[in-house]
Amino acid sequence: MRALLYSEHPQNLRLEFSLRPLLDVNCSSPMDSSDKKLNAARASLEFIEPGTILGVGTGSTVNYLIDMLPTVRDRIDKLVSSSKASTTLLEQHGFEVSTLNEVGDLDLYIDGADEWNKRLQLIKGGGGALTREKVLAGAARRFVCIVDDTKLVAMLGTFPLPLEVLPMAQSLVARKLLKMRAQPVWREGFVTDNGNHILDVHGLAIGNPLEMESRLNEIPGVLTVGIFAHRAADILLLGDDSGVRELRA
Ligand code: 5RP
Repeated sequence: MRALLYSEHPQNLRLEFSLRPLLDVNCSSPMDSSDKKLNAARASLEFIEPGTILGVGTGSTVNYLIDMLPTVRDRIDKLVSSSKASTTLLEQHGFEVSTLNEVGDLDLYIDGADEWNKRLQLIKGGGGALTREKVLAGAARRFVCIVDDTKLVAMLGTFPLPLEVLPMAQSLVARKLLKMRAQPVWREGFVTDNGNHILDVHGLAIGNPLEMESRLNEIPGVLTVGIFAHRAADILLLGDDSGVRELRA
């Protein structure tokens, strides 16, 4: 099915996607962002098949998913988490959380994003869990991203790009970024689950996400770049005012 989406998008985007409506909502008033996240999370349950080894992401959208996971408990063989926060929630729901080393590859990874483009390339790491998220996305046969429509951009980089950096290399990385005319901001007081720091990088024009991801990865001391272009999403479940749409790159 082809459909036109966002012809009136604030950024004047006119994008066409292959869309599969997953959930139509009979609602005349606009939905708020949390309803859209909830609907996208609910739609992702459909991708959990019997015997699934599941990777679980991090963030408010994923928290909706975690709250609904008990309804499909019998379809989940094993489960791996991308953060201590998600692990805590999963355990509260009675799930045993395995390590990636124990399970090997994942059948499915479900996670949110901070920005996405029509190639399903993403910026992630707003919650600071980008390193483990990238590991799980890389280990998954299928990566399903759950988002609301406010995060669509023509060019990635309006959302400040998170970089996880080794604390001892933080100033070095910041100086390299300044030479690229970007403005790194230390996420002060925040320590990642891996004991590292986050630089949120403003002002980067990410015209070529693949190239930028590689270039930033080469800076010594950068552990993880929040661009998910080399491992983009396979499927994106988009919550909007009319329900949920499935997009494939
Ligand atoms: C955490 C992430 C999240 O997926 C991203 O920040 C989106 O979060 P939310 O679902 O709360 O909007 O990358 O590191």
